[in-house]
Amino acid sequence: MEITVTSGKKITAFPNASLLESLKKAGIYLTSSCGGKGTCGKCKVIVRSGQAVSKSKMKLSKEEIDRGYVLACKTYPSGDLLIDIPKESMLIVEGKVVTGKSKDLLALLNSTGAGLDPLTSRIVIELPPPTLDDNISDLERLRRELLSQGMACLRVPFRFLPDLAKTIREEKWTITLSTIHTEDCEEIIRISSGDKKLPQYGAAIDIGTTTIVVFLVDLVTGKLIDVASTYNSQIRYGDDVITRIVHATEHNKLKELNDAVISDINTLLSVIIKNHHIDIESIDCLVFAGNTTMTHLFLGLDPAAIREEPYIPTANTFPLSFAGELGIGVNPNIPIYAFPCVASYVGGDIVSGILAAQLHKKQELSIFIDIGTNGEIVIGNSEWLVSAACSAGPCFEGSGMKCGMRATEGAIEGVTINRDTLEVDIKVIGEGVRPVGICGSGMIDVIAEMFFAGIIDQKGKLQEVVSGRVRKGEDGLEFVVYSGEGRDLVLTEPDIENIVRAKAAIYAGFSTLLKEVGFTFNDIEKIYIAGGFGKFLDIEKAIMIGMLPELPKDRFTYMGNTSVTGAYLCLLSRDLRTEAEEIAKKMTYLELSVSRSFMDEYMSGLFIPHTNIDAFPGVKKLMER
Ligand code: FES
Repeated sequence: MEITVTSGKKITAFPNASLLESLKKAGIYLTSSCGGKGTCGKCKVIVRSGQAVSKSKMKLSKEEIDRGYVLACKTYPSGDLLIDIPKESMLIVEGKVVTGKSKDLLALLNSTGAGLDPLTSRIVIELPPPTLDDNISDLERLRRELLSQGMACLRVPFRFLPDLAKTIREEKWTITLSTIHTEDCEEIIRISSGDKKLPQYGAAIDIGTTTIVVFLVDLVTGKLIDVASTYNSQIRYGDDVITRIVHATEHNKLKELNDAVISDINTLLSVIIKNHHIDIESIDCLVFAGNTTMTHLFLGLDPAAIREEPYIPTANTFPLSFAGELGIGVNPNIPIYAFPCVASYVGGDIVSGILAAQLHKKQELSIFIDIGTNGEIVIGNSEWLVSAACSAGPCFEGSGMKCGMRATEGAIEGVTINRDTLEVDIKVIGEGVRPVGICGSGMIDVIAEMFFAGIIDQKGKLQEVVSGRVRKGEDGLEFVVYSGEGRDLVLTEPDIENIVRAKAAIYAGFSTLLKEVGFTFNDIEKIYIAGGFGKFLDIEKAIMIGMLPELPKDRFTYMGNTSVTGAYLCLLSRDLRTEAEEIAKKMTYLELSVSRSFMDEYMSGLFIPHTNIDAFPGVKKLMER
């Protein structure tokens, strides 16, 4: 049996394999957050012609079923098929946006004052062939040559000795050493015959609870080559870190969670490497940042105690690991650097974010907040740093929302509603692209716009009579953000409740942490916001819904995904890796979940913008108009 994709590509349909599996075997990767269980609805394809058995229609609307949509993971071809793969179902690789991003990253690296000094380097050595007069061993010969080049300390792990004699003779005594600097000494991580100095690539990785992002970086120039991202397949075991820890420990499934994230990273790396025709042997090192639970699950460490009072992780700093030990599909000797964590609920992604914002070097009092599945907040300056965490849920990353998606091509990232005509205007990521979902910044916009247009009330309840765009859907009332070719994109009442809960948790986190350290919002000179909102986050609208405090707009800086940015910096600079370790050591952690004040603040935040409207005088004025 044959499957033809409308792009023209023909692939084999394997017996008893789902469409998803056959596509994967042919190198066509779909987003499959639930791992093929048929519960995430991310693997939709359209069957144009042919026969197939669909074993589940969960997550498909009636309109989609009528248009031929099926879940690829639950569909089994029974004859030749012609299918269409909608953009939103494809795993994301962002070739087009990299040029500008690469310049920004290089500028950031330069602004830190750190030089280009990647985690690993390569040295090409021409050894003098031995003679009867110069008859020292191969290893001594290598050491002597390196000493003459100023490298006094060199560790050669035993695993390289069995092949050393052969490797150095293979290409006339020329070899390339890949080394890593550890504890004031260079350690060999790979020996290749001949001159293999170039090319050299590394990967900076953000392992988020909901999404995983990989930057492929040229280690010689610091240039960003490409970006790939996908949903974290661990989502199939639960949306948040707690349910995943429960699954790993009480159900003895740590291996499954570990396999899921390793497989996601392997898929992203293989897609990106293939797209750029890069030899896998050119990948020299990996740096990753993730929250403490994600770091544990990636490294295969038992996360059980993270969840139990007094909340103790196995480790907050991690020895170097190697690709072969973790099952990453590159050369097994490639080192993997894990960002240090602070505590059970403030991880390497936040240390990475502080490094990217350079908050630890600033005199002024600043706040950093990373809005992901958890909202982690840090307050401080060059002298001190205090952190806390609050659970926001994955809604701003598109998970658990009817038409939610990550901030990638096709996502509605901005919305305005005309207050007189109630006409809706949308802004979509990508030029001339049909909207296929709504990302976090789009959701904040819709809530703010609906509130000021009178479409939702202060509790976030939809007002049916106000607009023809409010209709009854499968999950109750819903607001149609976009209606056009393809499926309608809506925000349902449960979606709105999710967002209101998330924004209440974030604001409560801000205000409780400030109270605990004895400051008020007016003492804060800068607020750095990180998160996967895409290029833009409309600060004013985030204030309007009561997610951010009402401060002058110029005090806010939106920074995008700082976890992967910090990983990029550490991939390229030894000094910045040292700084990251100092940040982690310096940062203290406050547990908000035991604070009575946090719960009170959270309850007050379940209104738009807030029960204490006097904290939002500008928004109050707008409401009175
Ligand atoms: Fe198919 Fe999740 S519904 S992979």
